[in-house]
Amino acid sequence: MDYLDKLREISIQNYTPIVKDDGRDFLIEFCKNNKPKNILEIGTAVGYSGSFMLMNCDGYLTTIEINEKSYEFAKQTFEKMGLTNRVNCILGDAKNVIEQLDGEYDLIFLDGPKGQYLAYYERLKKLLKSGGYIIADNVYFHGLVNGQEFVKHKLRTLVVNLRKFIEYVKNDKEVECQFFDIADGIALIKKL
Ligand SMILES: C[S@@+](CC[C@H](N)C(=O)[O-])C[C@H]1O[C@@H](n2cnc3c(N)ncnc32)[C@H](O)[C@@H]1O
Repeated sequence: MDYLDKLREISIQNYTPIVKDDGRDFLIEFCKNNKPKNILEIGTAVGYSGSFMLMNCDGYLTTIEINEKSYEFAKQTFEKMGLTNRVNCILGDAKNVIEQLDGEYDLIFLDGPKGQYLAYYERLKKLLKSGGYIIADNVYFHGLVNGQEFVKHKLRTLVVNLRKFIEYVKNDKEVECQFFDIADGIALIKKL
């Protein structure tokens, strides 16, 4: 078993949220086919998805994480995977960090706070090259976003915000979008 398989097992055991297997495979295929040069990730966690993206292209990754323990863990992951020289790990709140970034990205993996996707969206679009993609995970949030199920009070704002995000993206004339019922719901958004 290699390091990333162990990391996946440990993350599942510890309830550390990482991308599901089919979402990971989607990212791998995307990186293999599109060879992004400059990737931005919102929500590093332990460096699992970031490692897979880098292992399947020859680009560079800027990744933002708010939790200091996860940030430190992710740095170790990238070190162990021999990827450190292709990663810029940033500790901070994505809301503030994305305002300070001025790179031009050809892939943004949006996997941070689910209730904030719409709040980040216009800024992320500015950071994206024309022809670049945003891949957003968890847009269906355990089936609650497009289901009829009663949504518990503590999740209601998050679910409402994800619904607004989906509607906004669908009506945005500056992008083309596709939604995939894999992982926890994936949106693939291409800036025109
Ligand atoms: C679903 S996990 C990311 C999983 C990771 N992309 C993977 O698949 O390996 C979401 C991460 O976003 C982080 N996060 C939550 N709010 C954040 C914020 N405001 N700014 C940056 N990171 C945030 C959480 O601490 C958590 O580690």
